[in-house]
Amino acid sequence: MENYEYDFGMIGLGVMGRNLLLNMADHGFKAIGFDMDASKGALLESSATPGTIVKGVSTLKDMIEGLKKPRKLMMLVPAGKPVDDVIGELVPLLEKGDTIIDGGNSHYTDTLRRLDYLKNSGLHFMGCGISGGEHGARNGPSIMPGGDPEAYALVEPVLVAVSAKVKGSPCVAHMGKKAAGHYVKMVHNGIEYAIMQLISEVYELLHNGLGLDNDELHKIFRNWNEGELQSFLIEITRDIFLQKDELSSNRLVDMILDKAGAKGTGKWTSQDAMDLGMPIGVIDTAVSLRSLSAYKEERTQAAALYKSAPHPDIEIPSEVFIQQLSDALYFATIVSYAQGLALLHKASLELQMEIPMTEVVRIWRGGCIIRSFLLETFYQAYTANPGLQNLLLNPEIAQLLQKKAQHMRAVIMHATLRGYPVAGLMSALSYFDAYRTERLPTNLIQAQRDCFGAHTYQRTDRPGTFHTEWQTE
Ligand code: 6PG
Repeated sequence: MENYEYDFGMIGLGVMGRNLLLNMADHGFKAIGFDMDASKGALLESSATPGTIVKGVSTLKDMIEGLKKPRKLMMLVPAGKPVDDVIGELVPLLEKGDTIIDGGNSHYTDTLRRLDYLKNSGLHFMGCGISGGEHGARNGPSIMPGGDPEAYALVEPVLVAVSAKVKGSPCVAHMGKKAAGHYVKMVHNGIEYAIMQLISEVYELLHNGLGLDNDELHKIFRNWNEGELQSFLIEITRDIFLQKDELSSNRLVDMILDKAGAKGTGKWTSQDAMDLGMPIGVIDTAVSLRSLSAYKEERTQAAALYKSAPHPDIEIPSEVFIQQLSDALYFATIVSYAQGLALLHKASLELQMEIPMTEVVRIWRGGCIIRSFLLETFYQAYTANPGLQNLLLNPEIAQLLQKKAQHMRAVIMHATLRGYPVAGLMSALSYFDAYRTERLPTNLIQAQRDCFGAHTYQRTDRPGTFHTEWQTE
């Protein structure tokens, strides 16, 4: 092995690990990667930019011995047991002051457990979210590291160098204490699920409701991506409509089976929000609808059973409906971010993570899957009030939502009258309507609970807890 002292080590040379390491090397860091599969080390070296220093090895020991001390290394291996296995192998090889970063999508409670396990080892351990897919890893992802600030200071120069940049500012920042990095990434993915669900509903209404073909869809998404809806997800959707299928004469999107996969981060977001008592209905709906999509055979039976459902055509001028859809998507996208960010705010307090909300929205402006024009507006909102409990309470956001609300209602009316499923859009509107209602009908629920179970209630006119012997038959 060449006699270099490598600046940074990567464990796991799948496409993400390889690309991130190549990105580091392009920024002048001497990079070394380990993978048991020697062909991956060879691929790493052959993909390096000429003149950069990149080494692939197939034993962990070789990598550890090649690293400059204190050592800085990241693992990008599948979440769960593989992460524990790697930690188990690393501990005897490392020394006090070395830093291990878990850059995968680990569940934050696993990160808390690992922090506890390593607390007397003298090693630093950081849970770090990385978003942007393989392209982001190579050219600049959004990076969400959490945990020990001392460890962050050690790795900050590398992370800053490789991250995406927006207006010259790097899309990386310390996300807070303990497992904050993985918590922030989990919520990022929850929002990602929600926006993808909303886009799919709008696609259905354009495609089947208005009968538009893929070229027309491409044009609409191209226009949207040049306006207030500009975002990474709209941009890739625009291009997806043009992709030709290599196995048929159709567009690829039309040949893909309508069963959505999921690796779990969206579900974790919903589960944790439930535990914290935080309503994030659009995200919950997105998770549920991916589950529902898996029941293809049952859906096929139900489709035959209910085929006399309402007429599918939406008979209003298409330019009018397209504008309504654009506004509805904008409205519901804001609500999705608002729900995710409200969860983050609450979780930060409950789990003492001290998550800097302004920094979260700042680093989501570039590199990550949910980057969008809207994040600039959210950044202004959190800069004005870093303790903002919910984006919907910001006056500028309120104005944006008010402007779009009527079109949101129109879309839901047209869609539901004709039997198109728009659960994500409906959930966003219902949340908005409930959140802005000073007196909800929840008084009746309290009366019922007290009536059948003596669960007590509070009154509007005096403090205290009350119970009534209700007069029922
Ligand atoms: C990202 C993505 C990334 C991954 C998702 C996919 O931010 O780069 O979120 O982490 O593509 O985990 O998740 P599902 O397979 O659950 O859709």
